[in-house]
Amino acid sequence: MSKDNGGELNVTRERMIQLLNEDLAGEYQAIIAYVVYSQVIKGAAYTDIARELEAHAGEELAHALKISKQIDYLGGTPVVTPKPVKVSKDPVEMLRADLQNERETVGRYRERIRQAEAMGEFALSETLRTIIVQEQEHEIDLSAALNIEVPPAIKPGDKKASSSGEPAASSRH
Ligand SMILES: [Fe+2]
Ligand SMILES: [Fe+2]
Repeated sequence: MSKDNGGELNVTRERMIQLLNEDLAGEYQAIIAYVVYSQVIKGAAYTDIARELEAHAGEELAHALKISKQIDYLGGTPVVTPKPVKVSKDPVEMLRADLQNERETVGRYRERIRQAEAMGEFALSETLRTIIVQEQEHEIDLSAALNIEVPPAIKPGDKKASSSGEPAASSRH
């Protein structure tokens, strides 16, 4: 079932290292985006969210450290290059870009937790669970700032959803 959208349950150690390195590149991207957006987002309406974004930056750094530790434990080498960060001067576009990334991140970690469990790597799974709790909180913060309901996570390999840019559903009324 999950094969249809690029999901893979049984992965080798090597593949897990590769996937975690993609996750790590996403964490670096999140750190950079939150560092920059929290400082450049302007306007009285965004004062509270700017503070939230600053807090997110620190949490993303903690995630990067945790993922790197797991990569090292599995015998891999952590990557040093972030995924590209979207640049914008428009506050709403910044928040949407953050939300889009968080949706992809949650989708990726959901899959990663299942894979870690299937490998019997329960400490990895536990680590990922603590991270995904915070990623969902990030989604909630961003959705609240955008005044929308939290949109669904984006499954890995679901490129249509990931390139559409818009939270699919349910702005209120
Ligand atoms: Fe993160
Ligand atoms: Fe996040």
